[in-house]
Amino acid sequence: MKKSDCVSFLADPNSRRSCLCSIFPTASLLCLVYFIGSAFIAPNYKEKLSIWGLGGSLQNSAVSNCGIKCRPYGSEALPEGIVSKSSNLEMRPLWGSRKATYNVGFQQTNVNNTNNLFAMAVGIKQKVLVNKMVKKFLSSNFVVMLFHYDGIVDEWKDFEWSDHVIHISAVNQTKWWFAKRFLHPDIVAEYSYIFLWDEDLGVEDFHPEQYVSIIISEGLEISQPALDRNKSEVHHQITARGRRTKVHRRTYKPGGGRKGCDGSSTAPPCTGWIEMMAPVFSRAAWRCVWYMIQNDLIHAWGLDMQLGYCAQASSL
Ligand SMILES: *[C@@H]1O[C@H](CO)[C@@H](O)[C@H](O)[C@H]1NC(C)=O
Ligand SMILES: *[C@@H]1O[C@H](CO)[C@@H](O)[C@H](O)[C@H]1NC(C)=O
Ligand SMILES: *[C@@H]1O[C@H](CO)[C@@H](O)[C@H](O)[C@H]1NC(C)=O
Repeated sequence: MKKSDCVSFLADPNSRRSCLCSIFPTASLLCLVYFIGSAFIAPNYKEKLSIWGLGGSLQNSAVSNCGIKCRPYGSEALPEGIVSKSSNLEMRPLWGSRKATYNVGFQQTNVNNTNNLFAMAVGIKQKVLVNKMVKKFLSSNFVVMLFHYDGIVDEWKDFEWSDHVIHISAVNQTKWWFAKRFLHPDIVAEYSYIFLWDEDLGVEDFHPEQYVSIIISEGLEISQPALDRNKSEVHHQITARGRRTKVHRRTYKPGGGRKGCDGSSTAPPCTGWIEMMAPVFSRAAWRCVWYMIQNDLIHAWGLDMQLGYCAQASSL
């Protein structure tokens, strides 16, 4: 199967088209995880993963063991059984059964409950690309959330999917501002992966489900689809698609005009680094990244160099 998994990318909203692309039977990725490449830190990491995986249930059992002291703040007056610490973004019909209204009109490739979230900051000027991205992720059964930074919401109503995605509007805010306010880890706790993308990515050959299956099988906590060198402006070599592998965690190539990467490089952006335009976070990594995002963070320049804390935390 030689399909390509490709994300093309308009770097400059005004004109220049470049293309981020992951091409492969499946997406090729980068990741922040334990890629220093040494086998001996992997076990640590695995251990950590399983701790994360268990996070929810550990917390729940802790609540029942330590009684009222451990109850969520403010819930002490309520019967324990009705207190739920987390929620989700599922829209519910006013009447009738749940399934009836969700993703109506979209061919679903998977009838199982959706469990991934696609969130993107959008402006009406990028209508065409956004439409393609939203359709692709809806048909892969993602929950889709749009952050409108230009305050325009009504003009999206032309699209059939408009009533089936969540719209949030706040003028001149960045995706990090929105994510900090509207993607609290307790609210998005049900989603296995959170895609927090820019609006100018072309997804003609990108397959969300395939991508998710790769990051699951590789155990990637933070990742991004790789860029097609032919169509994208590649600023950091690690973000370009590798020809031979599905996934890569480091690069050995010198970057454009920058300090080179070689076998002895152990730090971003040679190893363990992704760009901020198309990050994908696991539930556990998102909980960490959400705390890393400061309330006054705007452009998030430099955050890319720090994300590793949330994928290999205890070693730093
Ligand atoms: C739903 O999920 C189950 C278990 O994860 C899987 O076996 C089944 O194939 C899925 N159904 C579809 C339509 O993808
Ligand atoms: C939003 O940004 C635009 C462009 O910088 C500016 O013209 C406009 O006044 C801003 N609006 C608000 C409400 O800050
Ligand atoms: C990129 O361009 C080169 C040279 O033109 C070509 O051989 C290669 O197949 C192209 N790769 C993709 C993914 O289109």
